Amino acid sequence: MRIRENVSIAELTTMRLGGKARYVLIAETPDDVQKAYDFAKEKHLPVWVMGGGANTIGRDEGYAGVILLNRMKGIFVRHGDELIEVDQASSEELGDEIILVGMGGEIWDDFVKFATDRGYTGIEAMSLIPGTLGAAPVQNIGAYGQDVAQVIEEVKAYDLKDNQMVTLKPEEMEMGYRHTRFNHGKDAGRFVIVSVAVRLKKGELKPPFYNSLQKYIDEYRETDFSPKNIRRMVSEIRNGKLPDPEQIASAGSFFKNVYLSKDEADKAEENGIPIWRNIDGTGKVNSGWLIEACGLKGQKLHGMRVSDKAALVLINEEAGGYFDLEAARAKIVDAVKEKFGFILEQEPVEISSNA
Ligand code: EPU
Repeated sequence: MRIRENVSIAELTTMRLGGKARYVLIAETPDDVQKAYDFAKEKHLPVWVMGGGANTIGRDEGYAGVILLNRMKGIFVRHGDELIEVDQASSEELGDEIILVGMGGEIWDDFVKFATDRGYTGIEAMSLIPGTLGAAPVQNIGAYGQDVAQVIEEVKAYDLKDNQMVTLKPEEMEMGYRHTRFNHGKDAGRFVIVSVAVRLKKGELKPPFYNSLQKYIDEYRETDFSPKNIRRMVSEIRNGKLPDPEQIASAGSFFKNVYLSKDEADKAEENGIPIWRNIDGTGKVNSGWLIEACGLKGQKLHGMRVSDKAALVLINEEAGGYFDLEAARAKIVDAVKEKFGFILEQEPVEISSNA
């Protein structure tokens, strides 16, 4: 286990904000997680678990505790009770349905690429989402109609409360829209995700597709819906809209979309707000649309830029610190509240000692 002291959180997160963390521990094995637990316990310090830092915001006061970086690697196929390293698995072992297992520190998109290259459907629409595999079930990542909840089989995690390894099934994860047991309520922050298993099948998605993907398919008259081609299309859509966190400081969507009951959706629609309806009448408003309608798309607010391509994304152009993000966020939230009455909720989590 590697230990670093007084590390800038800005350095560890794609939004590039935040003061210093007292300790950063780098866990490359499940054993390291145990050691990190012991280390923090001995020093009476809280632990904050982080993957790629792509959905995490640091505050100016930093973190007076231990940030545990999940860097456990490996991708396997489960065969009976055995885990076979993917580069050693023969094509017979890769049947029509596989349980693909990855360690929490794997890069999410490498995991997706492995599956799509071999013709497995289930996660292809989530291509190019930044961050690690361990973070995927924590916030139930999702894009273009898929989310992790639809394919998750099992999670192995280190329980920081009871100091033991546990296996969790989907029904124990309370997964909703960007909302799970891992990031909400009394168990938020309790589990270090050691490995994630998903169930995937050979096959392909069928139309109709999620709105922005369908638009692309119609425009380019695409007819190949294989996982590999969906991956290519999604990558193109994303690259045209969403900043690459390696190049431009951001944390992806900064606000959640707004989900409405049927009555709320009816009322919003009467007021001219475009609603994406579910079959049962409930609906979704794109927060990006709301922000754009407030005239804020592309605007620079307190060193932060509302992306001119996707108004849900806030870019840290030259924020002096977290306080600038806070001021920019308040302007956006207030504007949307005043014009439409909706309260936008932040999507990324914030590192704090009293979470
Ligand atoms: N729209 C606007 N103006 C904008 C942006 C969007 O009017 O500036 C409207 C358009 O009508 C557009 C629709 O919103 O057709 C949908 O936009 P898009 O498909 O780009 O998706 P989104 O709602 O902005 C969500 C996720 C993204 C995910 C995409 C694709 C959230 C918070 N965001 O964004 O996830 O990639 O759908 O499925 O749910 C993330 O969570 O960090 C993230 C990037």
